[in-house]
Amino acid sequence: MQDIGPKLIEIVGASQVFTGDDIGERYRTDISHKYTSKPAFMVRPASTEEVAAVMRVAAENSVPVTVIGGQTSTCGAAVPVDGGISLSLERMNRIVEIDLISMTMTVEAGCVLQVAHEAAEAEGALLPIDLGARGSATIGGVIGTNAGGNRVLRWGMMRDMVIGVEAVLADGTVISSLTKMLKDNAGYNWKHLLIGSEGTLGVVTRAVLRIRPLPTTRQTALVAMDSFDDAAKVLRRLEVVLSGRLSSFEIMWADFYERMTEAQLPVRPRPMPVGHSHYALLEAMGGDAEVDASQFERALADLMEQGLVKDAVIASSDRERENIWAIREDLGPGMSTMRPFASYDASMGLRDMAAFADDVRASLRAIFPDIQMVFYGHAGDGNLHANISVGALDKEIQRKFDVAVFDAVRRVGGSIAAEHGIGMSRAPYLSWTRSPRELELMAVLKKALDPEHILNPGKLLDAM
Ligand code: LAC
Ligand code: ZN
Repeated sequence: MQDIGPKLIEIVGASQVFTGDDIGERYRTDISHKYTSKPAFMVRPASTEEVAAVMRVAAENSVPVTVIGGQTSTCGAAVPVDGGISLSLERMNRIVEIDLISMTMTVEAGCVLQVAHEAAEAEGALLPIDLGARGSATIGGVIGTNAGGNRVLRWGMMRDMVIGVEAVLADGTVISSLTKMLKDNAGYNWKHLLIGSEGTLGVVTRAVLRIRPLPTTRQTALVAMDSFDDAAKVLRRLEVVLSGRLSSFEIMWADFYERMTEAQLPVRPRPMPVGHSHYALLEAMGGDAEVDASQFERALADLMEQGLVKDAVIASSDRERENIWAIREDLGPGMSTMRPFASYDASMGLRDMAAFADDVRASLRAIFPDIQMVFYGHAGDGNLHANISVGALDKEIQRKFDVAVFDAVRRVGGSIAAEHGIGMSRAPYLSWTRSPRELELMAVLKKALDPEHILNPGKLLDAM
């Protein structure tokens, strides 16, 4: 292979091409630390033109390219290939425009999600997509995984927020549709192919995102129920009585609530006692300070009167709100005693969720009597997370976990990857929830868009 180093330096400058040990760890692995690699180059372009030129060099020399983001997908989706290019768009991090009339924001792919949130808020707008990794996830990564998170219930996944896309294709062609219209039925919507493709079909460099008027009120509560069925009823009632204002319904099984609140006791009190079967973090947002809080309180009081909610704590300050959210999001202390653990993000119809959790629990207990498990997730989206540990995690244990969880997924007609994607760790199981015809179609699309197979190889379809 020809040394492409000089060509890359010509494009981005010597200070933006890294090789060997100068390539920092975060450009070689992801948060799971399950995979690590030795890319030949880490390159940091500053513009779409530079990305295109890098892709042309890669295509001419058949060098694999993996785009790096916040590296929090957890399934090895953005770990580069040995000898390939680790392409970081971190210098392409500008908020290009916020248009408060069209209600769009145009952002470069390397912009960190939280920075985009704050820029929108400063202008009185909300970029609704939100997730625990907001401080590190990049817009390009959120698009690449079609991330979900904790407000999908109301505003949808990233796909629902991406109106326009500019991208560089595998051969270096720049393709751009940075439009601002919600409606555009002029032929195939190619943007949606790239969204959720985990960097295997093109490199997203810029996007136009849909924003909303910033809500001015926010109500947050922790509630307890005595069965999953009751939790599901509470969710559906709240959707009606809060007139569409419900933005989060984060379900926690007792095992999760007990573990997280116990571990956090040194820093925050447990807001309500253990002993219930399910807990949920609720959040509603609105625009009427007179009405919203009392509507929310009344809704919860009614649900308690009906016996569906057994206990409820409503946050009365930002600090209390943060404390409630921390139970759900600050998993470090609670999970520390379960390391190493495997994590899953399956999805299914809400009707099947409780049985699915019981199924996984029973089949894994039968193999590992001392197994530790916590279940939680985004109930409104049919998205269940499970973290599982037996105190060690080698290939054989991982495989047993995978088979138990993905078999249970198959039994309920669910998906093995609700929001984190396939990457490397789920790739061997893609056929468990996708039919042969679907996989064939995916392969045809991949071949059409990346005939040389240089975009993020080894991920998604490649383990089939
Ligand atoms: C969450 C991550 C695991 O919901 O998706 O916390
Ligand atoms: Zn999640």
